[in-house]
Amino acid sequence: MNSSTTTSGLAFEVRLSPQRKTPQERAALLENPGFGNVFTDHMVTVRYTESRGWHDAQLEPYGPLILDPATAALHYAQEIFEGLKAYRHPDGTIACFRPEANAARFNRSARRMAMPELPEELFIGAIETLIQHDGEWVPTQENSSLYLRPYMFATDVGLGVNNPSRSYLFVLIASPSGPYFSGGIKPVTVWLSEDYTRAAPGGTGEAKFAGNYAASFLAQAQAVEKGCDQVVWLDALEHRWVEEMGGMNLFFVFGSGDDVRLLTPELTGTLLPGITRDSLLKLSSELGIAAEEGRISTEQWRAAAQSGELTEVFACGTAAVITPVGHVKGSGGEFSISDGTPGPLTMRLREELVALQYGTRPDTHGWVRKVG
Ligand code: PLP
Ligand code: COI
Repeated sequence: MNSSTTTSGLAFEVRLSPQRKTPQERAALLENPGFGNVFTDHMVTVRYTESRGWHDAQLEPYGPLILDPATAALHYAQEIFEGLKAYRHPDGTIACFRPEANAARFNRSARRMAMPELPEELFIGAIETLIQHDGEWVPTQENSSLYLRPYMFATDVGLGVNNPSRSYLFVLIASPSGPYFSGGIKPVTVWLSEDYTRAAPGGTGEAKFAGNYAASFLAQAQAVEKGCDQVVWLDALEHRWVEEMGGMNLFFVFGSGDDVRLLTPELTGTLLPGITRDSLLKLSSELGIAAEEGRISTEQWRAAAQSGELTEVFACGTAAVITPVGHVKGSGGEFSISDGTPGPLTMRLREELVALQYGTRPDTHGWVRKVG
């Protein structure tokens, strides 16, 4: 056992796994990892109590968490998470894309769920510590990366429901991953969910709160039943205004050539403020492409697709990067976006974003942070 200090100011105690994978075992696991199935040798944990604040930061062997059956998070779902990636750059170094934005969103989620905030240096320090020991797990193949999953949950023991927990566990695990959707950059078919609602005004939609995802599975299962890949969430009040997808934000492309214009649903408090979404709004305006945040209803979506005014639609997020939407189904029937193939602006923005993330284009935004 030894100790190492990171920029977080809190010393991470390092307990290396006696069962680290051999280079051969790791190479076999990295060959075709899929998404979120394979995990590295270690994880980071940090504890919080009201009296001590954040303490007991550890890098430890990846393994089961032992929890009392009355642990608060298991009963009342006080749990938040983040998702970001570590990318292998051409010079062999490892970088994250805007991890400070994930740290900030984690704290916004924490505030909404009456949980303690985690200092940004500790969030980043946890990533650096894990990468320092598990950096070999960052894949080198194209379109692959190490998906990082920081999360925090309530650890008080007891069934009282009057107050938020007074103790929490922060955990960081990492999963070498290929593309989120199998089959390369293939347009997805989406289902407009009118039966279920993801988030309502005053609710938890803009927090990366675990319960939002639990509440989405039934609608996602319905989407799959209807032959779709993903569900599109509509507003809770009128079931007309497009919000986002299960784990992605949406962009609509109108027109083409010099007249091309982008629209993404505005942040009303019920959808997740995606970091990819924000990056694409900034990138497109730099590329001279008009981009606005606004409203689009399902009727407008259908009419614009049918008139040809709407030329492309894509989804974006950390896991999904940029994924074209080719076909839309709902209770009122179905329609395609153009000829259903990936559009030119979708592919151009994807290339711009991926080049920044993988370090093949200079970072003029200060978005790329070396972590190993
Ligand atoms: N919307 C939801 C519901 C998500 O879970 C995600 C993924 O994190 C996104 C949008 C996209 O956010 P980001 O671009 O920060 O990954
Ligand atoms: C992400 O893009 O990081 C997500 O969290 C989406 C999904 C895997 C929940």
